[in-house]
Amino acid sequence: MVGGGVIGLAAAYRLAESGAAVRLVDASGTTGASWAAAGMLAPISEAVFGEEELTRLNVAAVAQFAAFAAALEDRTNLAVGLRTEGTLAVALNADDRSALDRLSEFRTALGLPSETLNGRQARALEPYLATEVQAGVFAADDLSVDNRSYLQALALANDLAGVESVRDDVTALVRDHGRVTGVRTATGGSLTAASVVLCTGALTQRLAGYPIQPVKGQILRLAVPARLRSSGSVLTRTVRGIVRGSEVYLVPRAGGEVVVGATQEQQGFDTQVTAGGVYELLRNAYELLPISSEFDFVEARAGLRPGSPDNGPLVGPAENGLILATGHYRNGILLSAMTAEAVVRLVAGQPLAEEWKPFGPDRFSPSGHH
Ligand code: GLY
Repeated sequence: MVGGGVIGLAAAYRLAESGAAVRLVDASGTTGASWAAAGMLAPISEAVFGEEELTRLNVAAVAQFAAFAAALEDRTNLAVGLRTEGTLAVALNADDRSALDRLSEFRTALGLPSETLNGRQARALEPYLATEVQAGVFAADDLSVDNRSYLQALALANDLAGVESVRDDVTALVRDHGRVTGVRTATGGSLTAASVVLCTGALTQRLAGYPIQPVKGQILRLAVPARLRSSGSVLTRTVRGIVRGSEVYLVPRAGGEVVVGATQEQQGFDTQVTAGGVYELLRNAYELLPISSEFDFVEARAGLRPGSPDNGPLVGPAENGLILATGHYRNGILLSAMTAEAVVRLVAGQPLAEEWKPFGPDRFSPSGHH
């Protein structure tokens, strides 16, 4: 298993529990996109035109997530902070409103349940929303999870299940007679394995040539101060909107943290947080929820989403001895439980669930790495 982000951790845990001997190789631990993420499990409010198959996969994934998280909590005695209050998408002006209406029609046509609200009804759900909010769409079935608690629980579950953790970078795949037989590592060694599983996100192109590009997301962590919390919850559900063409979401956590994300930038492997990125996020959060300017500022961070040409993940066999579980773009946390089950099946040579059919690595050709 190469890569200790959410996909690698979830898959290693499930594989080890299925009885396999698993080694997980990652130099830096979980500091990449999974750690930066907001933890939205929101197939309904994130469904977009042209991505019907991905939406079907995401809907199947959210249905499996709660049971996976409950089993993980049982195994580790750690809470992962699953929230079930839903997602409220809001519109600030007439343009936003028609964009939201068009998306709602599309989602309804796919059979995804959501409820259209006027501004007053939206504020009844979230009283601190800006008075400018004209309309909303409420997706009650969308969930969220505290991604960092979830990752910590997965890491512990790996230890408990006997996964061997190797702190090293993988620099290349090792091939022998047309088969991938292991990996070479930065410290000069090599490791052999009956199956190599790449869960390498934005680094996959470097290792295996598949066309996955880093899509930078800058994201903030704010905290509702105790004096605001004493009179009840300031934010109960995930709230999202489009402000002057850029998307913003606010995701509340049980302890008073509010995650505000995220920018989308294509500029290679840069993870620098910028003044402009932070400004845009704070401004947009303020426009949806003015009281957010009174929140404590805790952290700003950037992560690299692994984006494939069609925004869908690459999960399946790639070569003899090589399996990919990567390219999860905006949906890594959401798809982690379902991907872990898929990896267990792939390693055992079993067929995958129907929803995975469009997402085999063979829809792309790798370049330059053979
Ligand atoms: N799924 C949220 C994001 O990628 O920003």
